[in-house]
Amino acid sequence: MPRKILVTSALPYANGSLHLGHLIEAVQTDIWVRFQRMQGHDCLYVCAEDTHGTPVMIKAQAEGVTPEELIRRTAAEHVRDYQGFLIGHDHFHSTHSPETQAITNDLYLKLKAKGHITTRSVRQAYDEKAGMFLPDRYVKGECPVCHTADQYGDSCENCGSTYTPDKLIDPVSTISQTTPVWRESEHYFFKLGDFENVLRNWLSGGARQSEVRAKLDEWFKAGLQDWDISRDAPYFGFEIPGAPGKYFYVWFDAPIGYLGSFRALCDKRGLDYDEYLRADSQTELYHFIGKDISYFHNLFWPAVLHGSGCRKPTAVFVHGFLTVNGAKMSKSRGTFISASRYLSLLPPEPLRFYFATKLNSAVEDIDLSLDDFVARVNSDIVGKLVNIASRCAGFVQRAGGQLAAQLPDQQLYAEFAALRGTIAELYDARDYSAALRGIMGLADRANQYVDTMKPWALAKDPAKAAEVLAVCTQGINLFRVLMSYLAPVMPRMAEKAGRFLNISFADWNSVETPLFAHAIEAYEPLATRLDPKIVAQLVEPGTAPVSAPAKPAKAKTVTEPAAPAKPGNITIADFAKLDLRVATVLEATLVEGSDKLLRLTLDLGAEKRNVFSGIRAGYGDPAKLVGRQVVMVANLEPRKMRFGVSEGMVLCAAPDAGADVFLLSPDSGATAGMKVS
Ligand code: 2FM
Ligand code: ZN
Repeated sequence: MPRKILVTSALPYANGSLHLGHLIEAVQTDIWVRFQRMQGHDCLYVCAEDTHGTPVMIKAQAEGVTPEELIRRTAAEHVRDYQGFLIGHDHFHSTHSPETQAITNDLYLKLKAKGHITTRSVRQAYDEKAGMFLPDRYVKGECPVCHTADQYGDSCENCGSTYTPDKLIDPVSTISQTTPVWRESEHYFFKLGDFENVLRNWLSGGARQSEVRAKLDEWFKAGLQDWDISRDAPYFGFEIPGAPGKYFYVWFDAPIGYLGSFRALCDKRGLDYDEYLRADSQTELYHFIGKDISYFHNLFWPAVLHGSGCRKPTAVFVHGFLTVNGAKMSKSRGTFISASRYLSLLPPEPLRFYFATKLNSAVEDIDLSLDDFVARVNSDIVGKLVNIASRCAGFVQRAGGQLAAQLPDQQLYAEFAALRGTIAELYDARDYSAALRGIMGLADRANQYVDTMKPWALAKDPAKAAEVLAVCTQGINLFRVLMSYLAPVMPRMAEKAGRFLNISFADWNSVETPLFAHAIEAYEPLATRLDPKIVAQLVEPGTAPVSAPAKPAKAKTVTEPAAPAKPGNITIADFAKLDLRVATVLEATLVEGSDKLLRLTLDLGAEKRNVFSGIRAGYGDPAKLVGRQVVMVANLEPRKMRFGVSEGMVLCAAPDAGADVFLLSPDSGATAGMKVS
């Protein structure tokens, strides 16, 4: 009996481009959805643009466009990038839509009627010049605990303390740069505590991820607080029914955007929305999300659904963050890879494959190591998988393009096909990494088979033509099983392989029967090797990220940087590539084995860096440098040196290399992390 399944991945914000962190989630979801469809289930996948809130409003203002125009432009870019990565949404909608608004109002009014909404006054920072209340992140000032300047209103990046913005010393609005005042206003709250038992029961059912369960236990222990779901005008969002000038907070209508998108899909396809949403629905609902938004999806969202008489999600699948070469993606280090930059350099399937080799059901961070990416793809896809087909196809063509009527090693084929149950269980449990290990183990065995039978050697003897065809029929059949198992991960390659083999990979169980006396087409290359030089360009410093061909903002004049007129000169665009930052020396030590270098530990505000600097001659006692401020090039590609990795360069003046040097320092007032321009 086919299951009816509705799947979502998190809605991307309409104020920024997609990056590989978004894509790992979309790929994880898309593989699962494609796999469920191959199982014969009715699996629908929806997503949408997350459009509301202050950041979208402010960005649109800054660009001199309406929020609607900004959303339209960003959504077009997002859809293009998702398609570029072969993400097969059934529908991609917008939270700023009549469908989402109607459902938001409906759920809210039901919650209100049942007494789950309350109001009370909230004291908040207000920007008198901009005429608006300020979200915590729009107030900056000195940390009340460690006194680091320029910290956000909710937490300090230096000491990690959390506080409310009224505790900041010398607070400033980041919108108008004026000092905010404090004003009271009435807010609407969702009484999350009403649902403690419902949530505890919901969370104890089904196979929850252990990390999520542990986190939820913490949250329950801390007590479920009322959730503030309103914001005052001006706010880009939906006005709350019966509350003029009050708007739903973006996080209230964002998950409802899943339902708005699904509603639009139902209208498009004539599906029954209520069948999926009513409290006793027999359908399944899954949300794929990152660990940072677990609170919203595991507490607020099921409570909102339940409180308004809807079904709750069947499960929420939480994944970790993506790191690149072992570190957090960072713009200043050049390791921030946008989806469009990736697609401008490389095809999507190698990355889908690589992500799949790393993904499992745990909430662990996943590292994209570029060297490993190249090695893995070239070895597994090109060296193993495709190699089987490419070595056998030519012999079948020469024999007339028809596979033999039986297999020489039926047992081997049966073993390959019998693993489909185990591999299916692994995909279903989102343990793609284990599924792919199993599949690549089979690919090794298929290659061993071809290596042992040596069709190229047999083909030298015309009397062995039938044997050659039989061996290659076996090889092609084994390849077909592998390709079927990999079809959810590499759908385009599966389509191409389907044309080559004259079959479809739509049905997971079709591999039960081998292909006999079956005509196949001429083989065309299914994959090419990754060039490490191209892959390295993903994180090359100084290469401006390739952004979408977005329309330039109306308010800005965009001029092409002119080529320098005088040889040796650089353009302003060249200069802008340098990310110069103020840094504080935390430690300075001698480097054993070098009489030129000092090892500096530098505080860059949000992060620490290790830099080897050739300044020992000028600064005999390195301890003198501790506490001193310097200027550093923060986006220099890290360099592996004999003594360790150097992550930047400090600026200094010197008559000659090796002579006394003079470190450049900013004037007082500059603090660690400030940009130098
Ligand atoms: O964290 C984010 O990027 C949000 N835009 C995700 C929203 S998911 C859902 F709730 F809409
Ligand atoms: Zn602090």
